[in-house]
Amino acid sequence: MKIGIGSDHGGFELKEYIKKYFKDNGIQYIDYGTNSSDSVDYPDYGRKVADGVVSGEIDKGIVICGTGIGISIACNKVKGIRAALCGDTYSARMSVEHNDANILALGGRVLGKDLAIEIVATWLNAQFKGGRHGRRIEKISDIEA
Ligand code: RB5
Repeated sequence: MKIGIGSDHGGFELKEYIKKYFKDNGIQYIDYGTNSSDSVDYPDYGRKVADGVVSGEIDKGIVICGTGIGISIACNKVKGIRAALCGDTYSARMSVEHNDANILALGGRVLGKDLAIEIVATWLNAQFKGGRHGRRIEKISDIEA
């Protein structure tokens, strides 16, 4: 499994911290930027990660801005993306089990680093449950179409 990760300046520090977690745990990833704390526009980085998921270059994505709100809204404009903004491990697990989220959004200025890592680990280990949840995902796709 290959993970894509991207952020704006508000999420840059947390992105680097999560990359260290990936390296320490042998998780393959692509870093879509940004590469410094200089001010950039979060839609550009949300779009890069979302396009990576849709094209199949990556299996799942993690996006980070200051709150996680703007970058999750941007990702959810891309057809086929279900981006979930999570601030706790329960929501992270449910976003996969029930919503088949293919992007996790985090708030770099909201979350403590250790909590963020727990959220990431929970999200990566969760499995979509299908069944009635699959029917609901299909209804979301119908809205999108
Ligand atoms: C940038 O200052 C900030 O607006 C951005 O990181 C994000 O929080 C937007 O939703």
